[in-house]
Amino acid sequence: MPNRLIAIYPGSFDPLTNGHLDLISRATRVADHLIVAILKNSQKEPLFSTADREDMLREATAHLADVEVDSFEGLLVDYAAKRSANAILRGIRAISDYEIELQMALLNRRLRPQTETIFLMASEEYSFLSSRMVKEVFFLGGDVSPFVPAAVLKRMQSSFPKKR
Ligand code: PNS
Repeated sequence: MPNRLIAIYPGSFDPLTNGHLDLISRATRVADHLIVAILKNSQKEPLFSTADREDMLREATAHLADVEVDSFEGLLVDYAAKRSANAILRGIRAISDYEIELQMALLNRRLRPQTETIFLMASEEYSFLSSRMVKEVFFLGGDVSPFVPAAVLKRMQSSFPKKR
């Protein structure tokens, strides 16, 4: 029997965007089980707590089978080992993503060769989108409804009511 593909899609997801969600839904076609894993205790001060980000991810992926939402701290490859994952999934939007993604993939391979990094290309529709841009537009009063899932929009509006 061929190996089951247990893939981890790691990230900050602060917040989840439609680009992330598109990648998650396309990844379910190739992975037998997909673990969307939020990095806890990152150096950067997040806009949303890990618990909030987990809630939003769960709500936005509730319609997808074989998708699990979790969080982790420490090395990604250690988390992959703990979860018996054989792949790390990352999205690439443009050439500008390539360099850092290559660096991470090679480092992770050196740390744990059993875990393969798999890249999916972001849909062209979302290739300009990032969590950082969504936050900037939102806090400058712009409409982010085309860029984030409904669960995220709702949470952004209720957490920061002075904005849209
Ligand atoms: O959404 P992001 O911020 O681009 O995700 C970056 C992430 C979480 C994939 C990366 O920072 C990570 O894996 N951090 C965990 C610590 C680690 O394993 N570092 C070494 C490999 S980069």
